[in-house]
Amino acid sequence: MRLILVGPPGAGKGTQAVHLAAHYQIPHISTGDIFRANLKNGTELGKQAQSFMDRGELVPDSVTNEMVKDRLGNPDAAKGFLLDGFPRNTNQAQVLDQILVEKKMPLDAALELKIDHAEIIKRLSGRRTCRGCGASSHVEFEKPKVAGVCDKCGGQLYQREDDKEEVLNRRLEIYAQQTEPIISFYNSKGLLKNISAVGSVETITKAAISALGK
Ligand code: AP5
Ligand code: MG
Ligand code: ZN
Repeated sequence: MRLILVGPPGAGKGTQAVHLAAHYQIPHISTGDIFRANLKNGTELGKQAQSFMDRGELVPDSVTNEMVKDRLGNPDAAKGFLLDGFPRNTNQAQVLDQILVEKKMPLDAALELKIDHAEIIKRLSGRRTCRGCGASSHVEFEKPKVAGVCDKCGGQLYQREDDKEEVLNRRLEIYAQQTEPIISFYNSKGLLKNISAVGSVETITKAAISALGK
């Protein structure tokens, strides 16, 4: 299975990606997670990305496309992959196309997660992210067993800088302007599937698997 997830901030791409990657036994590749890991480790890539992420803007394509190309060259991607948060504009979608043609690894589907504005705000205002492993939880909807502590690795939970209101609004604007157009790009290729991203995490995972098949 070679799959991309498309949807606005807070749609649950990261949450669903964990379950879908386990179901299809493919690596979960999140460009946002890769950038955050680089930021944490103080790498050159992290430094390049930081100012864009802090403002809710896209990291330049020159940086992002190379990073994804590299990652798709890892041996684990030969059995399939799930891209979460990439592509995010039409240039990235076209570059991904070229990479996959070169590698003879055509995409199976682009899965769109649909959700309305009010629900996005509820999800992102209560989201907490793990400093250790990057996993998301929610203070109300996906409560950790111990407040402030990650269920998966025991790491400390924090609120992402870009989940604060001002930056969040910019991310939503960028999504509407730059990312939404890729939905029609994949629709015209016959690869688009869409599901509602509202409901329990399990219900949405089931809907995704039934839309994707196999
Ligand atoms: P990225 O990390 O990808 O952020 P995003 O797209 O804004 O998406 P989020 O991670 O905010 O939301 P999500 O859909 O994963 O939701 P989640 O599962 O956590 O990107 C961050 C930044 O990196 C970008 O702004 C940009 O600067 C840069 N970047 C990344 N990729 C790039 C690219 N390709 N090009 C250029 N720049 C790039 O869920 C949200 C919350 O809801 C959680 O609290 C969760 O617990 C809860 N939740 C999930 N599902 C449910 C449910 N069913 N019911 C109730 N609550 C739920
Ligand atoms: Mg995410
Ligand atoms: Zn953790």
